[in-house]
Formats: sequence, C-alpha cells, structure tokens
Amino acid sequence: MRLLNKMIVFAAVAVGSAVTCAQAKSLVVYYSATGYTKSVANMIAAYVKGDTFELVPAVPYSSDDLDYNKSDSRVSKEHNDPNREVKLVKNSVENFNAYDTVFVAYPIWWGIAAWPVDDFVKHNDFTGKKVIPVATSFSSPLGQSGELLASMAKTGDWQKGIRFSSGVDEKTVTDWLQSLNFKQ
Ligand SMILES: Cc1cc2nc3c(=O)[nH]c(=O)nc-3n(C[C@H](O)[C@H](O)[C@H](O)COP(=O)(O)O)c2cc1C
Repeated sequence: MRLLNKMIVFAAVAVGSAVTCAQAKSLVVYYSATGYTKSVANMIAAYVKGDTFELVPAVPYSSDDLDYNKSDSRVSKEHNDPNREVKLVKNSVENFNAYDTVFVAYPIWWGIAAWPVDDFVKHNDFTGKKVIPVATSFSSPLGQSGELLASMAKTGDWQKGIRFSSGVDEKTVTDWLQSLNFKQ
C-alpha cells in the first residue's frame, strides 16, 4: 500500500512538472519602434518564463521615418502602399517547433498592427500553436489587428488578444496573464 501511495505521489509530481514544462514553451515575438512594446514583451516573457525574439527591420526606421504627421515620411508612404513589404533581418526563430504558445506583440499604426511584424507572420507555420496578439497604442483599440494577422498567417489558433496603453504598468500585464491561467 505504501508503495502504491509513493507511486501516486510520483505520478502527481510528474504530471505537475509536465504542466510547468508546457508553460515554459512560450515565445514572445515583438516589434517595437520606440520601446513601449518591447517593455510589455519583456514583462510577458518574465512572467511566463518564455523566450523573446525581437523583429528587426532590415532597413531601420529613423525618427524622421516614423513621423506619421508628415505625408512624405517613410511610414506615411508605406501606409498608403497596399503592397508594402518590410523585410526583417531575420524572419524565423530557431527551434520554433518547440513553442506551443506564441505572443505576437506590436504597436498599433493607423489602427492596425505595425507592418514590420508581417514578414514574420507570413513566413512561419503556426499550426498547433496558440497565438496571442498583444498591441500597444496611445489610444486606439486592438481593433481588427489580430484578425488581420491571423488571416495573413493562415495557420495557428489565434486568440482575441489584448491592447495595452503605451507605458502600461507591470501589474496590469501580469493580471491579464493570470486571467489566462498563466502561472508565474
Ligand atoms: C507610424 C505610427 C502610427 C501610429 N498610429 C497610432 C494609431 O493609429 N493609434 C494610436 O493609438 N497610436 C498610434 N501610434 C502610437 C503607437 O501605437 C504607440 O506609441 C505604441 O505604444 C508604440 O509602441 P513602440 O514604442 O513599441 O513602438 C502610432 C505610432 C507611429 C510611430
């Protein structure tokens, strides 16, 4: 009987550690032009004990490039170009198969996901993965940004996602993660 009890305890511990391992397989992929999304990405990765992967445009954006008040700035021209393509330095992650949850974090640009994330979203196979969009913005909501990325990706179990204000505090982010049953 004692042996049986020991076996039950062992099995429970084994199941418990499998749950911990499953949670550890989270990746936070993010693009951040001015640091707000990067900060949220790091908060998420720290809480879920996941990895981060920063999306870096092959041609970096200068602050003039990002000036959305100027109609001839790089972002304004890209915004008006339905065929825009912003290439990344790297659009794939080593061992991508190992992750079962992928957070895709981005700033909102003109109401949608900043398009430097597109290259990553289009070039990876999210089959079998839970994908969670995370936006930051001054005031715009998440809107259709997640759905648009999901249709670009064509694969993956895309969740509703969330939008945080630029400069959101850590507790707001970790409360949200807790509400999704992520454990610290
Ligand atoms: C080109 C551009 C377009 C933006 N468009 C919007 C917008 O439509 N709505 C909004 O609330 N904020 C907008 N913002 C503000 C950013 O979404 C916000 O500052 C975000 O948190 C920046 O994240 P980052 O620091 O990671 O780049 C825009 C910023 C830029 C540079």
